[in-house]
Amino acid sequence: MTAQPSDSRAMPVTDLHPKPADLRNEVISGLRASPKTLPCKYFYDTEGSQLFDRICELEEYYPTRTEIGILESRSKDIARAIGEKAVIIELGSGSSIKTHVLLDALINPAAYVPIDISRDHLIDAAARIASRYADLPVWPVCADFNGQLELPEHGLDDHPHLIFFPGSTIGNFDQKGREVLLRKMAKICRGATRTESPGRLLIGIDLIKDRGRLERAYNDSSGVTAEFNLNLLQRINRELDANFNLDHFVHDAQFNVDDSRIEMHIESRTQQLVEIDGEEIQLGAGERICTELSHKFSIEGFAHLAEHSGWTLAESWTDPEDLFAVLLFETL
Ligand SMILES: C[S@@+](CC[C@H](N)C(=O)[O-])C[C@H]1O[C@@H](n2cnc3c(N)ncnc32)[C@H](O)[C@@H]1O
Repeated sequence: MTAQPSDSRAMPVTDLHPKPADLRNEVISGLRASPKTLPCKYFYDTEGSQLFDRICELEEYYPTRTEIGILESRSKDIARAIGEKAVIIELGSGSSIKTHVLLDALINPAAYVPIDISRDHLIDAAARIASRYADLPVWPVCADFNGQLELPEHGLDDHPHLIFFPGSTIGNFDQKGREVLLRKMAKICRGATRTESPGRLLIGIDLIKDRGRLERAYNDSSGVTAEFNLNLLQRINRELDANFNLDHFVHDAQFNVDDSRIEMHIESRTQQLVEIDGEEIQLGAGERICTELSHKFSIEGFAHLAEHSGWTLAESWTDPEDLFAVLLFETL
C-alpha cells in the first residue's frame, strides 16, 4: 500500500531540534581538531534527508531494499513476537518507509513515536503515517538521540515498548557510543512500568561483506552519495554564513577492513582558507574531513555487545545472501 501524502489530524510535535549555536560550536570544534571531523547527524537537513531517500533507491545501495525484504518476509513472526498494543518508538525514523511494513503487520499498536533530528522531513513522514493509520496516535519528537531522550507524556508506560532502529544507523557510532545508546534504549523500555511485558528492540544491522560491494554502495555511479556528503558543506554555508566552494572538495568512501567500517570523508583538493561565521579554518591540499563512519557487524559480535548493554537476543533474521540482519532483542 502506498502512503497518503497529507494529514488532517492534529499531531502534537515535541520540538527539541538542536539550536544554531550547537551546529556552530560542533562544526568549528570539529574542523579545528586533528584529524578534522564533522558530526554525521548534520547531514540531515531537509535537502540531506531528501538526498538520503534518493540513495535508498539506488541499485548499488543494497541495505534499504534488503532490510525491507527481511521485514516483509518475516512480518508475521515479528508481529507474533512483539504481541499486542505495543508503543512503537522509532529512532532516526527518516521517511518511515520501513515503519509501514511493521505497522501493517502489528496487532493493535498503541502509538507511534518517530524520533528524528530532521524536523520538516520528520513531520511530513509522521503526517503520512497518521493519514494512513487513522486510529493510531502519532507523536513525533524532533531531537538529537545523542542527547537526553524524553518521550511525550501520553500514558505510554501502560504499554510494552518496542524500539525500532532500522537502517544500520547504529553503525554510525563507535563501540562506546553504541553501548551508551543501547543502554539508553533499555532504560526507555524500563519506563513502561505498568506492563509485565519486557521491552523490545528491533534493530537492523549491515553485515560484514566483501570490500567491492561495500565500496560500490557508498560511491554510487550517479554521484548521489557524493552530493549527500558535500551537502554538509552546503548546509554550513546556508546556516552559518560560511564560504565553502564545493568545487574545491571531493567525496571519498573507503572500507577499512581492520576496523570493519566504511569511512566517509570530504577531501580538500587544494590548500585553502574557509571562513565560517567569522572564524577562519585552514585546509591543506589532500586534507580530509571525516564525515561518517559506518560500521559493519557479525550477528554474534553485535549480540555480544548488546548483551553487555541491557539486552538479550530473542530472534535474528537475514536475507538469502546474508547482506543484512534484523535482530529482535528483549530487555534483561
Ligand atoms: C541512515 S538514515 C536511516 C533512515 C531510516 N531509519 C531508514 O532506515 O532508512 C539515519 C536517520 O537518522 C536520523 N538521525 C541521524 N542522526 C541523528 C541524531 N543524532 N538524532 C536523531 N536523528 C538522527 C537522520 O535524520 C536519518 O533520518
